[in-house]
Amino acid sequence: MCGIVGYVGKERCTDILVDALRKLEYRGYDSAGIAVFEGDRIKTVKAKGKIDEGLVKKLPQATFSATCGIGHTRWATHGEPSDVNAHPIGNGRVCIVHNGIIENYREIKTFLTGKGYGFESETDTETVAKLLDYYYNGDPIEAITKAIEDIEGAYSLGIIFREHKNTVYAVRKDSPLIVGKGDGESYIASDVTAILERTRDYYCLERGEIAVLDKSGIRFTDTHGETVEKELLTATWDVESAQKGGYEHFMLKEINEQPDALRNTVSPRIKDGLPNFEECGLTAEKIRSYRQIFIVGCGSAMHSGMVGKYLIEDLARVPVVVDIASEFRYRNPLVSEGDLVVIISQSGETADTLEALKISKRKGAETLAVVNVVGSSIAREADMVIYTNAGPEISVCSTKAYAVQVAFMYLFAFEVAYALGKIDESECRRLVAGLEEVPQKIKECLEDVSPYQYVASKIFNAQSLMYIGRGLDNALSMEGSLKLKEISYIHSEAYAAGELKHGTISLIEEGTPVIAVATQSALFEKTLSNVRTVKSRGAKVVMICKESEQLDKECADFKIGLPASEDLFLPLISVVAMQLIAYYTAVQRGCDVDKPRNLAKSVTVE
Ligand code: AGP
Ligand code: GLU
Repeated sequence: MCGIVGYVGKERCTDILVDALRKLEYRGYDSAGIAVFEGDRIKTVKAKGKIDEGLVKKLPQATFSATCGIGHTRWATHGEPSDVNAHPIGNGRVCIVHNGIIENYREIKTFLTGKGYGFESETDTETVAKLLDYYYNGDPIEAITKAIEDIEGAYSLGIIFREHKNTVYAVRKDSPLIVGKGDGESYIASDVTAILERTRDYYCLERGEIAVLDKSGIRFTDTHGETVEKELLTATWDVESAQKGGYEHFMLKEINEQPDALRNTVSPRIKDGLPNFEECGLTAEKIRSYRQIFIVGCGSAMHSGMVGKYLIEDLARVPVVVDIASEFRYRNPLVSEGDLVVIISQSGETADTLEALKISKRKGAETLAVVNVVGSSIAREADMVIYTNAGPEISVCSTKAYAVQVAFMYLFAFEVAYALGKIDESECRRLVAGLEEVPQKIKECLEDVSPYQYVASKIFNAQSLMYIGRGLDNALSMEGSLKLKEISYIHSEAYAAGELKHGTISLIEEGTPVIAVATQSALFEKTLSNVRTVKSRGAKVVMICKESEQLDKECADFKIGLPASEDLFLPLISVVAMQLIAYYTAVQRGCDVDKPRNLAKSVTVE
């Protein structure tokens, strides 16, 4: 997620830290702060909002003379964006900046409360700050080692201890962190962008390593205090390309962030191998009490609901109504007391979706918001909230935010099926374990982009094209089709493969591109017949299916093979292929990928 910086050197550090934070603005954030050594104390300044409108305005006129400190841009995951929840967080003795999520923060909080600690913020981060304080006995390495043994989740941490003046400590697991080496000065940063104007030399901090930066230089130790030798790397990026983490567009960066985003969404909701949504009050008992489930959203969010419908109805055998928020709100929906309405939104601010939520509440239904932006209007209004933890999504075209909504749908479907006794515990465990493997499979799909580039080179001149599939593949194709038209401006339609013959097939002529998604063994032959039908009418077919499927030239011109996986999870993997096809097609057409015409990231009007 967001940004960490730190500086140890000879210069006054306030401006250095703030400048470095500005370089990380591209990652998206909702608040910013710094903590520096000033005299014998740690001074912290932090504020909600943009760096220049919040933090900078709060910095004292006579800026600090400090030459060492840490800084942060926060993208809230636990507790809404506010001055108190902003980082750095600490108690005057220990102060930290944190990126990521501490999954077991509740247990740590309970433990520390029992030891007499109080908490001011709503963040998961504060539990780490207090845990470090609890373990601190004069030796920072010992305190850090003990604390990281206790914490679970993804994190990178920048830490300062009042008693160890002008020294910055850093440690990480899963969230990235680099350590920069300048001339008589050193840095920590979430990525090299932050420090590129000051130095190009850096180390990559690995899991289980602790970095110690002080006036004498940089040292790395393992958790036993043994010195670790590390290779010094040199960044070759120019400042501008580094702003997007080296990717040409935010969309591509966000597509590549999907494996991490999925893990961050799924793992905190798994307890002992089973789904667990108790954090938001959604218990198995409650699930058993609902009469009907509705899922409401707009655009990609609604598409994730379509996947949810297939999964829940198939696994849990309960009817699910999916609706577009702008339709739902004006058709006096058949929602009433005893129903659950799941409201999906990345931004949490979409006007139609917010209104659908209010209507559902007025009608007496219980509402569950599945939202990416913490503290957003939908999150505040709903009875229960699940945050999707995808991190900030900057590209207007949704990719990782959609993928995590779908991942939520999988886990939610497992939970509903288990709560209703439609699957037993061992089956539920098996399904959860399967879902946990998806990020790795997606990584495999991202390794070689040449098939997607090839398809893009074949379709970028098309006037119109068709996505076809059945069942889950049809639901996922809706998203694939939206991606393409949204950013490349090529008209496309997603159609249930078996429905084509009832009218739409008349659109197929010599050369019409058709992307056929056929990941489900049970439906493979059926979809294949539809593919042969369009092929014999001149269509150029790209098949997205298992790598192991043998296809002859009569049914496909090109195959995109997906890594081996249980059928149930293949659609979630296949969406990556569709996103990348859309992406490379838009690039070839010279479109403004991240800011497509006529569209806004957050649609706060009707
Ligand atoms: C997706 O690529 C779109 N930009 C759009 O359909 C989006 O999903 C929709 O506007 C809903 O936004 P929300 O998730 O923020 O509510
Ligand atoms: N989970 C932390 C919080 O909500 C850190 C979020 C981040 O990575 O910015 O404060």
